[in-house]
Amino acid sequence: MAKILLLNGPNINMLGKREPGIYGDLTLETIEQQCIAQGEAVGIDVTCLQSNAEFVLIEAIQQAPEADVEYIVINPAAFTHTSVAIRDALLSVSIPFVEVHISNVHARETFRHHSYFSDIASGVIVGLGPAGYHYAMQTAIAHIQKDN
Ligand code: DQA
Repeated sequence: MAKILLLNGPNINMLGKREPGIYGDLTLETIEQQCIAQGEAVGIDVTCLQSNAEFVLIEAIQQAPEADVEYIVINPAAFTHTSVAIRDALLSVSIPFVEVHISNVHARETFRHHSYFSDIASGVIVGLGPAGYHYAMQTAIAHIQKDN
């Protein structure tokens, strides 16, 4: 079965409680369940991982080819603006990915305007709230269906 890997970075486990004016009130669990259901509806397995630790995300990316992951959806959260290491991990596996941000990072502090991922992503979804994950999943599914 084709696989999509949904990765979320630091503090995304706090969705629902964290700055609801910016991030909304849906929990990560709800978002993950919605993404899993979206995959299930078309026979695609969705594996979800959130971590506050950079190395955990890097290891999941490194193991993705062996796990038959065909597409990655990632919200690197604060690592977006800092992590050359996660960027290098994504480059090392050559699996296409979409970068998602719940908030419009370009309308926020200047340190959020730069991403270490956007120039190597297949696409970037910014500022559409949790629905951004749904659109990213649609993109991943369309890509997998085109290839298989
Ligand atoms: C975020 C935006 C980042 O700047 C921030 O550090 C996050 C979440 C978003 O989804 O809007 O943790 O990636």
